[in-house]
Amino acid sequence: MKATAKAHTNIALIKYWGKRNDELILPTNNSLSLTLDGFYTTTTVDFQEDLKEDYFELDGEPVMGEAYKRVTAFLDLIRRMADKEDLFARVKSYNQVPTAAGFASSASGFAALTAAATKAIGLDLSDTELSRLTRQGSGSSSRSIYGGFAEWEMGEKEDGSDSYAVPIASENHWDVRMAGVVLTSKMKKISSRAGMRRTVETSPFYEGWLKSIPEDLSQIKKAISDKDFTRLGEIAEANCLKMHATSLAAKPPFTYWIDSTIRVMQQVQEMREQGIPAYFTIDAGPNVKVLYLPEYEEQVERILREVPGVTDVILSKPGPGVSYL
Ligand code: ADP
Ligand code: DP6
Ligand code: CO
Repeated sequence: MKATAKAHTNIALIKYWGKRNDELILPTNNSLSLTLDGFYTTTTVDFQEDLKEDYFELDGEPVMGEAYKRVTAFLDLIRRMADKEDLFARVKSYNQVPTAAGFASSASGFAALTAAATKAIGLDLSDTELSRLTRQGSGSSSRSIYGGFAEWEMGEKEDGSDSYAVPIASENHWDVRMAGVVLTSKMKKISSRAGMRRTVETSPFYEGWLKSIPEDLSQIKKAISDKDFTRLGEIAEANCLKMHATSLAAKPPFTYWIDSTIRVMQQVQEMREQGIPAYFTIDAGPNVKVLYLPEYEEQVERILREVPGVTDVILSKPGPGVSYL
């Protein structure tokens, strides 16, 4: 009863930022992302009859506390589905992505866990079923089941049965690149979960954010199908700025940005003035991701590495969906 799965992170171009149901993880809006080949998680789940509780190891270290509870609560869902509620597991996971730093480790982490655990316990799930299930571990992980561009449809039903991701265009559709600009690998102080909850509950800008989503989504889907990079970048960058604006208006206000975050944003805007098409997006963390086209790769990397505060630049192509090893 052992299986290993690999899942890649995805970076949202239209962000998921708020839940209508915290327990089932049902979002307030559709979101759309690009799965990356450069960042991923590999997880092995081994269900063993003699275990009295789950054991979870991340990057070679035993994990306790909140992150452990998130994993066991999620395995509870899988045990219930398989009707094997007394069966516990050894979970060993490796993140080829900084954990809890705004590089979407929860997306690759839960997608890999879902695929490995369901396989190990003998459930044979479709991609839609995997996406719907992994959503309950971390919302963004619903999109990591698929490669390339994927959209998480928020759904309408109270029970979440229609809330899962669908593929928009595979990783072979269009070679747009993303540079992960690492400023710090420090864990963020406010998790995505806590940050979006505070924003939904207190930010007067939240309503404006929500109203703007349908137009962004329909425009970006057109940009993807037309392979219109300028439009893709403009919409993604603006959507990211709107999301971060909501947190500045929350009570108490907060931001995930640090000084070097702003320096990278300015550098990207400067690149455009020099004729290099590049756009940024930022998740719940200080690190920046930069969208660019392959022919500008060398220039983009060189310029980003020179920005004070940048510790690494990791270049990435569109990546594949979840797989079994
Ligand atoms: P991120 O920007 O990295 O997604 P989040 O705050 O959304 O940050 O989520 C980070 C949390 O996701 C971690 O604290 C941990 O609970 C969980 N997580 C990260 N990686 C894994 C993994 N490989 N397996 C299981 N859970 C993980
Ligand atoms: C800003 O999926 O990490 O990265 O569902 O509470 O686990 P939980 O949150 P998470 O939120 C991601 C927020 C975001 C935008 C996005 O990925 O769409
Ligand atoms: Co996350």
